[in-house]
Amino acid sequence: MEHKEDELVFFVNGKKVSVASPDPERTLLSFLRDKLRLTGTKLVCGEGGCGACTVMVSKYRPDLKRVVHLSVNACLMPLCAAHGLAITTVEGIGSSKTRLHPVQERLAKSHGSQCGFCTPGIVMSMYTLLRNKPLPDMQDIETYMQGNLCRCTGYRAILDGFKTLTSEFKGCGAKNCCQLNGQENGCGDASSGMPENGVYLEEERVGTDLVDSHKFSPYDPTQEAIFPPELMLQPEWATQSMRFVGPRVTWYRPASLQELLDLKATHPEAKLVNGNTEVGVEVKFKHCEYPVIINPSQVQELTSVTWDQAGVTFGAASTLSDIEQELHTAISQHPDWKTRVFSAITEMLRWFAGTQIRNVSAIGGNIMTGSPISDLVPLLMSADSQLTLVTSSGKRRTVPIRGFYTSYRRNVAQPDEVLLSVTVPFTAENEFFMGYKQAHRRDDDIAIVNAGIFVRMRGETVETFRATYGGMAPTAASATKTEQALIGRTWDESLLNSAIDLLLEDLPLDASAPGGMVEYRRTLTISFFFKFFLQTTAWLTGKLDKENASVLETFHRPAPASSQLFQVVPKNQPVHDLVGRPVTHVSALKQVTGEAQYCDDIPSLEDELHAGLVLSCRAHARIISVDADKALREPGATHFISAKDLEPEKNRTGPAFLDEEVFRAEKVTSMGQIIGIVLACDRATAQRAARKVKVTYEELHPIITIEDALREESFFAPQQQYEHGDVDAAITASPHVVEGSVRMGGQEHFYLEPVGCIAVPKEDNEMEVFASTQCPAGTQMNIARALGVPANRIVCKAKRLGGGFGGKESRTFCLSTAVAVAANRSGRPVRAILERDEDMASTGTRHPFLGRYRAGVTRQGKVNGVEMWLFANGGYSADLSVGVISRATTSCDNAYCLPTFRIDGKICFTNTPSNTAFRGFGGPQGCFLAETMMDDIANQLHLDPIEVRRLNMYHEAELSITRQPVLHVTLERCLDECIRRSEYQQAKEEVEKFNSSNRWKKRGLAVIPNKYGIAFGLEFLNQGGALVHIYRDGSVLVTIGGVEIGQGLYTKCYQTVTRALGVPVESVYISETSTDKVPNAVPTAASMSTDLYCAAVLDACEQLRQRLAPFRQASPQAAFQHWVNAAYMQRVSLSACGFEKTRGLTYNPESKTGAMFAYYVYGAACSVVEIDCLTGDHQVLRADIVMDIGESLNPAIDIGQIEGAFMQGYGLFCMERLKYSPKGFNYTRGPGAYKIPGFGDIPLQLNVSLLRGTSNPRAVYSSKAVGEPPLFCAASVFFAIKEAIRAARRQQGVEKPFDLHSPATPDRIRMACQDTLTDKLPPSPAPGSFVPWMVDL
Ligand SMILES: Cc1cc2nc3c(=O)[nH]c(=O)nc-3n(C[C@H](O)[C@H](O)[C@H](O)COP(=O)(O)OP(=O)(O)OC[C@H]3O[C@@H](n4cnc5c(N)ncnc54)[C@H](O)[C@@H]3O)c2cc1C
Ligand code: FES
Ligand code: FES
Repeated sequence: MEHKEDELVFFVNGKKVSVASPDPERTLLSFLRDKLRLTGTKLVCGEGGCGACTVMVSKYRPDLKRVVHLSVNACLMPLCAAHGLAITTVEGIGSSKTRLHPVQERLAKSHGSQCGFCTPGIVMSMYTLLRNKPLPDMQDIETYMQGNLCRCTGYRAILDGFKTLTSEFKGCGAKNCCQLNGQENGCGDASSGMPENGVYLEEERVGTDLVDSHKFSPYDPTQEAIFPPELMLQPEWATQSMRFVGPRVTWYRPASLQELLDLKATHPEAKLVNGNTEVGVEVKFKHCEYPVIINPSQVQELTSVTWDQAGVTFGAASTLSDIEQELHTAISQHPDWKTRVFSAITEMLRWFAGTQIRNVSAIGGNIMTGSPISDLVPLLMSADSQLTLVTSSGKRRTVPIRGFYTSYRRNVAQPDEVLLSVTVPFTAENEFFMGYKQAHRRDDDIAIVNAGIFVRMRGETVETFRATYGGMAPTAASATKTEQALIGRTWDESLLNSAIDLLLEDLPLDASAPGGMVEYRRTLTISFFFKFFLQTTAWLTGKLDKENASVLETFHRPAPASSQLFQVVPKNQPVHDLVGRPVTHVSALKQVTGEAQYCDDIPSLEDELHAGLVLSCRAHARIISVDADKALREPGATHFISAKDLEPEKNRTGPAFLDEEVFRAEKVTSMGQIIGIVLACDRATAQRAARKVKVTYEELHPIITIEDALREESFFAPQQQYEHGDVDAAITASPHVVEGSVRMGGQEHFYLEPVGCIAVPKEDNEMEVFASTQCPAGTQMNIARALGVPANRIVCKAKRLGGGFGGKESRTFCLSTAVAVAANRSGRPVRAILERDEDMASTGTRHPFLGRYRAGVTRQGKVNGVEMWLFANGGYSADLSVGVISRATTSCDNAYCLPTFRIDGKICFTNTPSNTAFRGFGGPQGCFLAETMMDDIANQLHLDPIEVRRLNMYHEAELSITRQPVLHVTLERCLDECIRRSEYQQAKEEVEKFNSSNRWKKRGLAVIPNKYGIAFGLEFLNQGGALVHIYRDGSVLVTIGGVEIGQGLYTKCYQTVTRALGVPVESVYISETSTDKVPNAVPTAASMSTDLYCAAVLDACEQLRQRLAPFRQASPQAAFQHWVNAAYMQRVSLSACGFEKTRGLTYNPESKTGAMFAYYVYGAACSVVEIDCLTGDHQVLRADIVMDIGESLNPAIDIGQIEGAFMQGYGLFCMERLKYSPKGFNYTRGPGAYKIPGFGDIPLQLNVSLLRGTSNPRAVYSSKAVGEPPLFCAASVFFAIKEAIRAARRQQGVEKPFDLHSPATPDRIRMACQDTLTDKLPPSPAPGSFVPWMVDL
């Protein structure tokens, strides 16, 4: 066998790249970032689950005689697989310095990039779409975006920007709009007459358009880069057989089937890698070692597709995208009945992973992996597909896929056998087939349960029946008893009833079964069959009663619609003055081109070492020994740093209480704590070596859940307590007492940029630290303490963060301090970037809460008095939990005035990662308890929920929980506008009508008001500084203490300077946040940064303005630069420190009274949802949000914050569920297991309006803070879901109150919709009689 050995050749952005000895273990992403320094492509998850690493792969397909373009996850693509291909990265399509690609321009100018970390991946997905289809539609965009996540924007702005490139774009609205004149994709005609801020009603100053789409450059597909001719002219690039040999792994790319078979015979243990979407994940996260890899992508027999009378045969290496396309064509060419299996497969593929994964992963990979939740295997089994296997001697055998699997991920194939192909049959007219899948998220999620169900009828009786379920056993499981018993039965109600009983027998599930949600999964098996029964009945009879019909429809998404309403600036505002204008995020152009630099994009420094972390893997244990000998024997490993390298008093860290250790010394109190760091020459070596450190533990009893902590009285002091009036008397005297309890789960921050840090030791004990942190000053202080040096030797810098949301406020200190110690001890720069699983396993989340209340209520629903108890799971250390419980307990009034109350809050100490700040900081948990109470009152007293809320709502100057007068109250206005804009009455009638005519789908709607207090809970934190220099050329350099985390803080500071100094924005620059420019800055948190830093910048600018005033008066007509120079000549300082401290905060922690907040932000939201009662799936049909955020400094940024917060809140209340084992192991350590909302989850209609005509005397230019308050608006979706469940229960005659815990995931929704199917389930074993797979923290 002859090999073209050792030279890998491919093209990147049009340039040829040759690699002499490529390492088969290397991914394309690591090569692009580390070797080619193309750092625009980001590493977020490394498991194909977020799309941030998306690049375009182009290849010439001789069979199609054309070039095909594929969006691909570079984090999973092996470098060696790039041979003969052309790769395009975000840097290759446009640049802010030369020319932006229209995709980049439209995304940036439509405000679709906030922190920017997801942006390059999103750009490349859209770019690939355009290369394949120059005039796509919105459906294409949704498909291409299925594999991309964004945690900041809420997606609406991205979709709006891209919409301008679609066939649905209706133009900019101008009279002479080119779109209306037939030109495609926008015009770039700046003279089209569009007013600057879109629609403009002078009398109301109402704006509805945040984007000047008429200014976009047109998209011209003929201008795109051509495919490298060299690759086309020499097709052997793509076909020659190759071998690449690395230190641990050898990669073969055979060119023929025989060569492949010979290789497999020589290396029976070899892995066949097509897409690497299974193997790549196994290697990276399960640390499997596969020394021989065979890539069969060039073996013609494995990629070919053949059709015959019986059906279609796909080569095992056919990609899912190719299969999808092939089947779509077949479906369009044959009668419906003949392609029922194909339709089920294409429908399933729609929900199979994202486009990037489908583009590379092969059907053979899916079959041979044999995952019990494979989406294809149940379909193939029920369709009776056949597999063809071949051995090295060329012997072929065909086996049915039913019977192929023997046990968990095992099958009957022999080690030297290769899967050659899979044959899928046509269906006959009397054969019916459907596929089903239920997941936590519709797009790009693995199944909870899936199924393929087939029936062949002879007349009215069943001839053959096959039902295969995934997610119910270690392999895909056939319901064998049911399959036998239904033969010969008539397709009627009696068959349905028998089938349900039989299926429950066929598919039992142990109470402790892996995956949990046991009852739900069992219910799904019968719900799927019930749907199949209805569908087949409809096929057989040609009719289906109206009540049942809707349940057969999957949720389908028309292109989402949206509107934004805001106040535009007065017409006479000077052009240079950007305050109040919807200007684009200042870094947006750099973010869309990949030029924006984040921590790990900093080029490697000379002598740099990489850190591999040794993290605890017990929840509670004594450390018996730590042995790093083997690790240090790994070639390239240099040091092992642990608690032994620090004196005990320096080994203490933490944001407030110093109750944590930099390196765990004697005990671990949670999984994910740092025990040590291995330093090595590169990241992979450091990680490999770290895995070789042997830690021996003696296990101790762990406390994991809130209930555990309550039982064992494991709390942090102090307890938070607020009391006012005689609450007992008030409750006793009330005609009604309503009580209840509710859980609210934690939430992973899932910022896209992982926590990272680079520490660079310098002379005189100085150290420069680049950190992805919201708190550079805290980082500095913790490092100084650990190193035993004064803070003046440590400089911590943060240029921008790829998101934070509170997760990088204090939890970054553990890593940065440990890394600084490592840098200090080794005397070399050290870089540490957490892998996503390390990040999620160690950095903590939003606090899970348990809330209880007992309220005395009037007949009309007015609360007279209430007792509330809140318990937060704080994790293993205090961190910021005292602040969180304080805000939670002072927020459990939400928008309602409580005449008497007693509120108790406790932080539970548990052996889980320490929980921390997260957008809202306990506020959403407190408000959620208040809204649960309002919801219960309305329902138990049969009152209108809006009227109950209105009755209790704050009026001007009423007193809050801390007895602070609630001022400038606009709750009524927000609520009224929300009701009006959401067309609430009409929506309510429509919901009722829908519910009365649909049995298995129900709708619900809810309106929720919200009040949010603005200020840090601790008075001293409410301060901020800025440093402003003016240079002699008139340029202005600004530095602030706050960090740009995507929220637009720098942009707002720029805007402030334009007004304060009267200079154009081009003269202003903010470079980075650094502790040597602005000292002692508080964390960038609590929504306070605009209030603090814009005000501090304003203060500095005003000082400078006053100093310049004499020169301005002397030459009023002269330019700014002239005054600056004149001042300079007169020896006037042109540098000023600005400072802001929030005024009016009078809260006294002793008496627990006084003004805790500077002011309040108010809002209201109305949501309408539809649920599928049989599966628990749901869709948000509409959301209307109204927020009073004063006079917005930048409506585009503020609306972006509102939409982003809403979607993050939607994740909190309806999707994101942390799953922990009873022993404290976090199962949810990546986007595969932990689902945040994706593009497909945004409401079909999302309307945001900023309340106009309001102002705020307490913040800069009458603005208000916006980061956290809108998050709670998403609770309206939760309560709308609860309403829909109520409608389902009511139909069933179940009127009694029920608990719905947050998040309202499909299992909770389904199990709350009690019906005849759930009644069939046998009673579940008593709690305590078994060990559940997962627990709620
Ligand atoms: C983000 C993400 C989302 C996903 N979503 C889904 C989903 O929604 N539904 C779902 O079912 N799966 C999903 N998966 C799993 C995975 O993508 C699929 O199983 C995929 O089809 C695997 O194909 P591959 O080519 O990438 O496999 P590879 O990783 O290349 O190979 C997988 C295994 O198959 C073996 N193999 C491959 N071809 C042959 C052959 N011809 N003969 C013998 N052995 C062979 C290999 O040796 C290897 O063990 C997802 C994975 C990721 C990373
Ligand atoms: S980093 Fe590749 S998909 Fe997340
Ligand atoms: S802008 Fe998308 S993750 Fe931040």
